[in-house]
Amino acid sequence: MQIGIPTETVAGENRVAATPETVKKLISAGHSVVIERGAGVKAAYIDSAYEQVGAKITEDAYTGSQMILKVRSPQGDEIQKIAANTALIAMFDPYRNTLLDQFAAQQVSAFALELLPRTLSRAQNMDVLSSQANLAGYKSVLLAAAEYQRMFPMLMTAAGTVKPARVVIMGVGVAGLQAIATAKRLGAVVEATDLRPTARDQVESLGGKWLDVPMSDEEKQKAADAAKNGYGWMPGEQYIKDQAAIVDKAVANADIVITTALLPGRDAPRLIKTETVTKMKPGSIILDMAVESGGNVEGSKCGENIVTSNGVTILGIPNIPSTVSTEASALYARNVFNFVETLFDAEKNFVVNQEDEIQKALLVTHGGQVLLKRG
Ligand code: NAI
Repeated sequence: MQIGIPTETVAGENRVAATPETVKKLISAGHSVVIERGAGVKAAYIDSAYEQVGAKITEDAYTGSQMILKVRSPQGDEIQKIAANTALIAMFDPYRNTLLDQFAAQQVSAFALELLPRTLSRAQNMDVLSSQANLAGYKSVLLAAAEYQRMFPMLMTAAGTVKPARVVIMGVGVAGLQAIATAKRLGAVVEATDLRPTARDQVESLGGKWLDVPMSDEEKQKAADAAKNGYGWMPGEQYIKDQAAIVDKAVANADIVITTALLPGRDAPRLIKTETVTKMKPGSIILDMAVESGGNVEGSKCGENIVTSNGVTILGIPNIPSTVSTEASALYARNVFNFVETLFDAEKNFVVNQEDEIQKALLVTHGGQVLLKRG
C-alpha cells in the first residue's frame, strides 16, 4: 500500500504525522511511503532523512496513496484530493469538525485518533491525547515562566531574598501533572485541584498541595464511575459553588495559574471568573490551555495575550504541542504507527474491521456515511 504524508495546512501547525523512524518501520512492513516535500521540516525532520530510510519525496502526497497520515484534519481543497476508499488517520477534533459530511461524500474512511478507548491497555501506545498533553503540560509552564517578570525559585542573595512563585494548576490530568512536575523542578510552590479525587495522591506525590473541594456521596459515585473511562464528569451546582470559592481564594494569591480542564465532546468548563482575575496581583500570569475548547478562564481569547486593567496577563496560546514539534511529532508518529499496524490482517491486507473495538471507536466516516454519534 502507498501511504502518503502531506504537509500540514492548518496555520501554526508545525508537527508531522510520520518521522524517519516510523517511515522506516512502515517500509519494513512492506508499504511504500511518499512524503510531501518539506512536510517534516518545521519539526526538524528534513526530506533527506526520509529519503535515507526509503521514502519518496513528492509534490503531492495524496495522489496514488490509499492511506493518508495527518496530524490535523485536511481542509478546503485538500479534501478533493483524497481518492475514494482512502483511509485517513488524523486528529479530527471530531465533535467540532464541520467537514465530516465532505469526507463521507468522498467515500473516505476517516479515523479520529482522539476517540481512542483510552482505558484499553492495548490502546495505550496509540493514545495521542496523552502523548501530546504530556508535552503541552511541560511547555505551558515554560511559556508562563517566560512571560512572568519575576522568578520561579526562591533565591537568597546578597541583595536580598527572592520569593518563590506560587503556581496553581486547575485540572490534573496528563497535562496538569506534567505542569506540576515542571513547576516544582523550577522551584515554585504548587497547588492543584481536579474533579477526580484520585488525582490528590498524584499531586501530593509530586510535592504539590491539593486544593480540596468537598463532594457529596452522589458526586463521589459519579467520579468513581467516570474514573473507569479515564475522563472527567459533570459536577453538580453545590460542587461548582464550593470549587469557585476555593479557586477564588487560591487564584487570588497565585502568581501563575495554568488551567487544563477539558470534558471530552463538550465545551471546556469555565473555572475562573473575571471577578477572581480582578483580585490577582499585577504581573500575575494565567495560561488557559483549554482556550481552543471554549476556555477555562473568562476573558481568555484564542491566539491572544490579554493584559487586564489590574495588570494580569491571560495567555491564550493555541496548540502548545506544536511549539515542541520535534518531540510531539516523534510521539504522535509512534502513536499513529501503532494504530496503523492494527489495520492490516494476517495477509497484510488493509481491512476496515468494525468488529474491532479500537477501529469501531475511531471510525467517524466510512462507506459514504458519517458514523460519529454526537450529543
Ligand atoms: P482531560 O484533558 O480530558 O482533562 C484534564 C483534567 O481536567 C482531567 O483530569 C479532568 O478531570 C479535569 N477536569 C475536567 N473538568 C473539571 C472541572 N470542572 N474542575 C476541575 N477539573 C476538571 O483529561 P486527560 O488528562 O486526558 O485524562 C484524565 C485522566 O484520565 C488522567 O488521570 C489520566 O491519567 C487518565 N487516563 C487514563 C488512561 C487509562 O486508563 N489508560 C488513559 C488516559 C488517561
